[in-house]
Amino acid sequence: MKFFLDTANVEEIRELAELGLVDGITTNPSLLAKEPAPDREILEQICAIVPGPVSGEVVSTDAAGMVREGRELAKIAPNIVVKCPLIAEGLKAVRTLKEDGIRVNVTLCFSVPQAIFAAKAGAYIVSPFVGRLDDIGTDGMSLIRDIRQVYQNYDFETQILVASIRGPLHVIEAARIGADIATIPGKVYKALLKHPLTDIGLERFLEDHRKAQKVGAAV
Ligand code: E4P
Repeated sequence: MKFFLDTANVEEIRELAELGLVDGITTNPSLLAKEPAPDREILEQICAIVPGPVSGEVVSTDAAGMVREGRELAKIAPNIVVKCPLIAEGLKAVRTLKEDGIRVNVTLCFSVPQAIFAAKAGAYIVSPFVGRLDDIGTDGMSLIRDIRQVYQNYDFETQILVASIRGPLHVIEAARIGADIATIPGKVYKALLKHPLTDIGLERFLEDHRKAQKVGAAV
């Protein structure tokens, strides 16, 4: 399972990428709007830090505009993946960009039929938003389960990226289901690594070691 970071904050990406366990990045216009630097500059910096796929989103709503923007985004670096919204025009753009050899992440997916359309159009990644579905009182993770099943039924190669993750439980469930990618906010990413029993256990080991004061005990 691949872990992406869902952020456009270069400092946060730099800090977490030091672990060597960040497989890719997703940005969107809202995340980029929070950062002061121009979008293109930010994406250039991110692509230089993380060698895996880095999603940059188009803001046009017609296929020709999306293709134009997508081609420009793809020039930033070879690891750019162009994000197009899951609307009819977006699916048209997927086809054209794919013919150009540009990988597309089809975003804002909220249903199984939408995910089927994305796969049939040739999406490299589909991004179902689980948190936003939970927010309106539906079960976001059941959409992931359904898409996994349907993609398996028809051998669709499009990767399922679980987006709009709100907490560790979304990631655990995504892994159980067999989603290909989880894109995770920095705060949740850090929380996944931590366990109080690990901290308590380590503290005790170090304390016992200190108390014993054996010569040559430390390797
Ligand atoms: C995914 O690529 C999106 O950037 C993201 O997961 C959206 O999440 P939100 O619902 O927290 O805005």
